[in-house]
Amino acid sequence: MKIAVLVGSNRKESLNKKLAVYMQNRYQKTAEIEILPIEKLPMYNQDDELTPPEIVTEIKKKVAESDGVLFVTPEYNHSIPAFLKNAIDWFSRVDKVLAGKPVMIVGSSPGVLGTARAQMHLRQILNSPGISALTLPGNEVFIGAVHEKLNESGNLVHEPTIQFIDTVIENYINWIKKTK
Ligand code: FNR
Repeated sequence: MKIAVLVGSNRKESLNKKLAVYMQNRYQKTAEIEILPIEKLPMYNQDDELTPPEIVTEIKKKVAESDGVLFVTPEYNHSIPAFLKNAIDWFSRVDKVLAGKPVMIVGSSPGVLGTARAQMHLRQILNSPGISALTLPGNEVFIGAVHEKLNESGNLVHEPTIQFIDTVIENYINWIKKTK
């Protein structure tokens, strides 16, 4: 099973990126998990969508070939970062590579709400007609105070959070199988 991961932060020391890498390692026996380099995508422009730069085609192909897409995102100003929205906009056009794709959402922030507001927006976006992804119902993973839950090596060390993510991943994998 192939899972494509979209991380919503492009900064080097991103806590969400660390979380995505942690999940990639922890669940490597469960699925082939690949973090896609969406930081390489240019700004979406409708003029280019029929003849996009090669990197757009390459990344869209990876999404299309995946069995599911995992979002790991921070919250910017109560929504998702523009960086992530840009990737989604590319994916929503021509060959709509997220259509019918089982999606799981994880978000973390140093604050208490753990990206709850951004994830509400993200679910709404993924449900729009151009995208029509199949977002895993329930199973909301809001990780607040994430800087206290990741150690210096970027490993999650907060046992209740680890157990919760284990459960949600299991639910997600079962759900991917059901949606096939
Ligand atoms: C933030 N941050 C933030 N946090 C939050 O919980 N709600 C919010 O609305 C925002 N808004 C926001 C806007 C901008 C432009 C920045 C740069 C930051 C704080 C954010 O959660 C924190 O910087 C995270 O560490 C960002 O995620 P990464 O890059 O560590 O993955």
